[in-house]
Amino acid sequence: MATAQGKGLVMRLLSTLPVPTLTDGQVSIRRPEADDAATVLAGSRDPLVREFMQGVIPHQDEAAARRWLAEVPGALWARDRAAYFSVVVGDGPSVGWAELVDLRPAERAAEASIWLLPEARSLKVAASALRLICRFGFDGLGLGHIDAYAARDNMPVQVVGASIGFRRAGYRPGLFRSSRTHTLHDAVHATLQPADLC
Ligand SMILES: CC(C)(COP(=O)(O)OP(=O)(O)OC[C@H]1O[C@@H](n2cnc3c(N)ncnc32)[C@H](O)[C@@H]1OP(=O)(O)O)[C@@H](O)C(=O)NCCC(=O)NCCS
Repeated sequence: MATAQGKGLVMRLLSTLPVPTLTDGQVSIRRPEADDAATVLAGSRDPLVREFMQGVIPHQDEAAARRWLAEVPGALWARDRAAYFSVVVGDGPSVGWAELVDLRPAERAAEASIWLLPEARSLKVAASALRLICRFGFDGLGLGHIDAYAARDNMPVQVVGASIGFRRAGYRPGLFRSSRTHTLHDAVHATLQPADLC
């Protein structure tokens, strides 16, 4: 199996693994499919997603989202660049997105991020999905830690992160630009160690 060496420990490369489905019995994360296009389109246009996530470019229409889904997630996985997952509840349609990006094999680290459609918020789905993608990062990829950066005033994601074991690691003034207003957000840096995931 191809691996990346780092301080005697190894991180598995995405390209050596199939895209798994992980579930806690209620919430699952799975390979993004073209049929998730309506959700991805809505997410790319959602004001909160655009406010608190950098580089979100709204898809033009559902056909464009469908093309993006058919091409981009698989290509980034194959190039060891990003692990993208759709979030589903039960056997329903996708309700959001969870990802590991900024994969750093030498550090055995990555950055986790998540968004949900408004109708899936405030239902504990976020904690489940974030937990599942972090479980994949630790058990599937062999990460030693996972970072998360939340806008200072984005309390929901900070509360969700803390609830599954992320601990505050720093403060980064002007770290990223809102995709909606292009103003700079100060960010709270939190980090998760495998033993703290709960
Ligand atoms: C981030 C996101 C997935 C969180 O999921 P969510 O379902 O909305 O989260 P919730 O509404 O359940 O809020 C989580 C917790 O924060 C608490 N909370 C919300 N606003 C709060 C505030 N201003 N102060 C303190 N706590 C707050 C909630 O009460 C809840 O606590 P509980 O689980 O103990 O009830 C969702 O808000 C989203 O998609 N946001 C847009 C994209 C985004 O910001 N992604 C993160 C990028 S880092």
